[in-house]
This record gives sequence, structure tokens and C-alpha cells, in this order.
Amino acid sequence: MANKNLNAAKTAKKDEFYTQLTDIERELQHYWPHFRDKVVLCNCDDPYESNFFKYFALRFNQLGLKKLICTCYNGSPVQGNELLLRFEPWDDDDEIKKKAYKVEITEVKDLNGDGAVDLSDVRYLLQNDKNVLSTLQTGDFRDPECVELLKQADIVVTNPPFSLFREYIGQLVEYEKKFLIIGHQNALKYKEIFPLIKNNEVWLGYGFKGGAAHFTSPYEDKATAGDHREGMIRVSGVNWFTNLEIPKRHEKLDLVCRYSKEEYPTYNNYDAIDVKSTSEIPFDYPGLIGVPITFLDKYNPEQFELIGNTSDTDWLREAGVGTMGQETINNLRKQGNKAHVTANMNSLYIIKDGKVSLPYARIIIRNKHPKAL
Ligand SMILES: C[S@@+](CC[C@H](N)C(=O)[O-])C[C@H]1O[C@@H](n2cnc3c(N)ncnc32)[C@H](O)[C@@H]1O
Repeated sequence: MANKNLNAAKTAKKDEFYTQLTDIERELQHYWPHFRDKVVLCNCDDPYESNFFKYFALRFNQLGLKKLICTCYNGSPVQGNELLLRFEPWDDDDEIKKKAYKVEITEVKDLNGDGAVDLSDVRYLLQNDKNVLSTLQTGDFRDPECVELLKQADIVVTNPPFSLFREYIGQLVEYEKKFLIIGHQNALKYKEIFPLIKNNEVWLGYGFKGGAAHFTSPYEDKATAGDHREGMIRVSGVNWFTNLEIPKRHEKLDLVCRYSKEEYPTYNNYDAIDVKSTSEIPFDYPGLIGVPITFLDKYNPEQFELIGNTSDTDWLREAGVGTMGQETINNLRKQGNKAHVTANMNSLYIIKDGKVSLPYARIIIRNKHPKAL
């Protein structure tokens, strides 16, 4: 259901999904030591709307930040409509809100003298000479003036537009930046992104409760009544993508299932067994294993090796995954399967008791330390 929202966002380039402060806090609590003396860039973040700006401004001193830069894109259809934070002197000035601009914060004073920084202090942030607001041409993260800001940054933290995720993460990697950004798990299958995971250049963070997030959004929510929250859209399968070191990626997945030929079918056109869920990975299987992409949330490179990604047709060919053949396709169709596969496609399949089945997208892995059979 929520996936539909995201796909719709991609086609219509609907990118206005605003992250909740509680979700940012829940994830960021694991990364605090990374931020001392660092320049943080939030480059898809209108300070009027973005809780990323709010989070870093409020915790500027606690985190020991050197600088916070937020840039605002002038293409946002709801920019300036939902003011979560309001600053003098523009509270009622619609003009300035429609422009792309950047805010640079280098000093946050605790004006209450209560030891904490709260919103009433943040109101005055931009009246401090050391903090600057200035206009930008477009605020597009690819715009040269935004790239200059990226070069200054040590860590980029945001929820970027879903429709530009490939390009967005590509740019961060190109400029060798540390980052913590929200993306959809489907992006793990992209052939630009899977190699980053495979080469241990990117991994998944702690994630959202139940693997789904509620974003403030102007679009229609299609979640069931139980999952619906007023003014929000529920999106399942979202996660945090990062290259900041976290203990999670060294946690070992507990494996409790024993391998048996009957329970773990082997693909007919590739020498690997199919495992339907991460919790069912057998502890004693030394060969190749096909698992759902959700496995990557539990991936520990000391425990497993990533071999390939069945969504990448080039990889399928290189790995020697055979084609399905006309007879298999005919059998599939007889079973009423309407999947878009053809005889010459290199797509993993299993024939069991005369029935053909096609697993969903799989990541091929190998257990580095299988227990003896
Ligand atoms: C998923 S929303 C997240 C907003 C904010 N980061 C948050 O989490 O609340 C992505 C934002 O990026 C903006 N955006 C779209 N295209 C952009 C671009 N090319 N450069 C910078 N920002 C862009 C959208 O207008 C939208 O506000």
C-alpha cells in the first residue's frame, strides 16, 4: 500500500515527505560522537519546514557542531506553507519564503540561561551576526553553489527527494562525504547502489519502527485505518542509509535453522538455495543462498559475503544464471502466473513437485562461517 505512495511519488515527482522530529531523534541518538567539531549540511531542507534543521539547531551545542548549513529548494510546491519554525522578521513575508536560500549557523546562544536550547532561543539564531541567511539561485543540490556548500560539509544528513535518490547518493559518494540519509529499501536493488553496499561503502542504519515511517505530507494517504495518522503518509520499507560507523553493522545475526534439501529448494538455473526470510537462513549451509533484500538490514560483513543482486540483469548474465526456456514459461502460464518473464530471460526459478515458482528479488549471499554439517 505505502509502496504505491512512493511509486506514485516517483512518477509524479511528488517529493514532499517531511520527516518527524521523533524519527530523527530516534536514529541520531546512535551517531552523536560523529558530530563533534563537524560541519553538517542538510541540503534538502527548508528551515521553515524541516525537522532536520530544528534537530541540529536545538542540539548545536550538545553535539558540539562547528557549523550547520541548511539549503532550501525553490521548486518545493509546499515551501513556506507549513511553518514549523518561524523566525522574525519574515513571519508574514511570503515573498522571501518562495526563494531558494541557505541558512548558516555557527553560534547558538542559550538566551534563557537554563542550560538548554529551546525554540525560543532558536528564534533569535538569525539575529546573531555570526549566523547568516542568504539567497541561492535554485537550492537544487546539484547546483554549483550547492556543490560548493557540499564541499565544505563533513556530514550530510537529510531525507532527500525519493525521485532523485540515485543521483543524490551518487553525488555524496563522488565528493567522499559522510552521510546519514533516508531512502527506500527498493533503492538497495539499484545497480548504482547495491555495489556500494557490497563494497562496504554504505550500510543501513537502525531504521524506523516496524520498517515504516509516517511523514507529514500534502498527498493522500492510502494506509489502512489502523495505520492512518492525520495529515501524514505512511511509507513502508524506508530506512536510513549511512557510511557512519555504528555498532549495529557488527551485530551477529542469530541463525537457528538447520539446512535440509526438502525445506530449502535449489534454483533450477543457479547453484544456490532459496530462503524466504532472513530468520530462516540455515546456520550450516556453506554454499550460495538467495535471500530477500530485507536481509540487508541485518547484514554484518564479518558474518556474510554479498555475492550478487538478482535485480541486476548484467550480474545475472555474468553469474551464468541460465534463461528460463519456453517449456518453463508455458508451465508458468498454465499455472496462471502473469509475471512479465519471457523464455530468454535470466530469471531465477524453482521447479518443485512439477510447479514452477519465481522468487521475488533476491540478494545472493554466502555465510562466511557456516557451522559444520
Ligand atoms: C522527502 S522531502 C524531505 C524534506 C526534508 N528533508 C524532511 O525530511 O523533512 C525532499 C525535499 O527535497 C526537495 N527537493 C526536490 N528536488 C530537490 C533538488 N533537486 N534539490 C534540493 N531539494 C530538492 C523537495 O522539495 C522536498 O522538500
